[in-house]
Amino acid sequence: MNYINFDRVAEVYDRTRAVPMETIIILTREINKKLQITFGSPPYQILSLGIGSGRVEKYLSSTDNHLFGIDISELMLKELKKKGLVESISILQADACNLPFRGKFHLTIAIHVIHLIQNQEDFLNEIIRTSQMVIFGDVYTDAYQSKLYSYFLNILSTLGWTKQESKSINDHLVTAMLKHGFEVEEFSETIYNSQDHASIFESLQKRYFSWLWDVPEPIYQQAMKLLELKIRDEEINLNESYSTTSSVNLQIFKQLDN
Ligand SMILES: C[S@@+](CC[C@H](N)C(=O)[O-])C[C@H]1O[C@@H](n2cnc3c(N)ncnc32)[C@H](O)[C@@H]1O
Repeated sequence: MNYINFDRVAEVYDRTRAVPMETIIILTREINKKLQITFGSPPYQILSLGIGSGRVEKYLSSTDNHLFGIDISELMLKELKKKGLVESISILQADACNLPFRGKFHLTIAIHVIHLIQNQEDFLNEIIRTSQMVIFGDVYTDAYQSKLYSYFLNILSTLGWTKQESKSINDHLVTAMLKHGFEVEEFSETIYNSQDHASIFESLQKRYFSWLWDVPEPIYQQAMKLLELKIRDEEINLNESYSTTSSVNLQIFKQLDN
């Protein structure tokens, strides 16, 4: 079982990874469209792997869809349960690499999850065993357009630590899915948005970004001090907003014989 423990950010997860409602509408519209084209009329059974607090996934539960959600983090699931959706979402604490289901779901989704899965073989076997259609994807507001975020990444690399790109899809997984009789299609849509510097600063300062958990403590501490100096020297007003974008990126896998 390999995962990064999201318990530590469960309580702040939705607030620090907020996306505009418009992106959620794009996500649900695309998913419902694919379900209808592929399987005809509802009801559909959907499994969300790494559902977490249900930040975006909770909107997939409807009278047409029965949503199942699993996650390894007890506290992320606790946040989802607080939303009072236990009647419409079946929630289980489980590992995506060892699923407690026998039958096949119409659709399995993993939103912002697969970069965290290290045991790709088990993960792959489980989704193939339990899914007719699979969607990997991300729904996010781009932090790279924040100058504070860029400054921080530059400072870290001058201190000898470079952030690895987290990929929403990995090539090995795509090749393996194709070999197992799935075809793949991509979907991407981006909208304009804005965010304040303060929220990026808070996520850096409190280590809410999960990639920050890998940065060695002394390097992190020094980088934060340098960032604070930069903010002071450039007189950056943290209450000001900057322009950014929010995106939905999906990779949709369908079994060819559907
Ligand atoms: C970045 S969060 C995304 C949560 C949610 N899908 C969203 O987009 O808001 C990743 C989630 O995947 C979960 N996770 C990581 N590895 C997992 C595994 N092997 N099995 C089940 N859940 C896992 C984490 O606990 C966390 O809740």
